[in-house]
Amino acid sequence: MTTLEIPRADWQCKLVVIGDSGVGKTSVMRRFTDNEFSFNFVATIGIDFKVRTIKVKEKMIKVQIWDTAGQERFRSITTAYYRGAKGVIIVYDITSLKSFSHVNNWVINFNRWAGDDVQALLVGNKCDLEDQRVVTKMAGEKLAKEHGMEFSETSAKDCTNVDIAFMRILEKIVEKH
Ligand code: GTP
Ligand code: MG
Repeated sequence: MTTLEIPRADWQCKLVVIGDSGVGKTSVMRRFTDNEFSFNFVATIGIDFKVRTIKVKEKMIKVQIWDTAGQERFRSITTAYYRGAKGVIIVYDITSLKSFSHVNNWVINFNRWAGDDVQALLVGNKCDLEDQRVVTKMAGEKLAKEHGMEFSETSAKDCTNVDIAFMRILEKIVEKH
């Protein structure tokens, strides 16, 4: 008998993470998949992928996360990125009004390129930086509601709400399928 257990997945699910550069997309993803965090900012070039198998509503789901580059020069998030995606996560930084004001553009982008039945989640990241906050939680919730998205505030640094945020969108996706 082997002691090494590889979780068997009942189902696969693709999520795409979008949002401005520096808001913490890669950090949130790495916290979720590897439980790691770094203060070093290494901007994503093009696209990166990570996988985590997790139990959602009694099903083992292999979650494949596509982490996109926020920097304008790498930005060409079109049909190819969204193909087969069950969920889209839009991240902004609660200490950056600019990143929050760009959420509408990201919504337009995914409404244009992603499929109709894609579940969306809005994430206000860096909630550990309360003293630098410029976007209220209420403003985030309101915007999410306007676009029919789920909402969470997270801190990739402190590990606050990261699993909860992913579970929120994954449960919605599993319910629908
Ligand atoms: P691009 O790849 O350029 O699109 O950026 P990104 O959205 O992937 O940002 P990234 O995850 O690389 O994080 C940018 C910077 O913010 C890094 O220096 C991180 O350490 C920092 N950061 C990310 N999440 C948090 C957080 O929750 N709290 C704090 N204080 N800093 C964070
Ligand atoms: Mg990145």
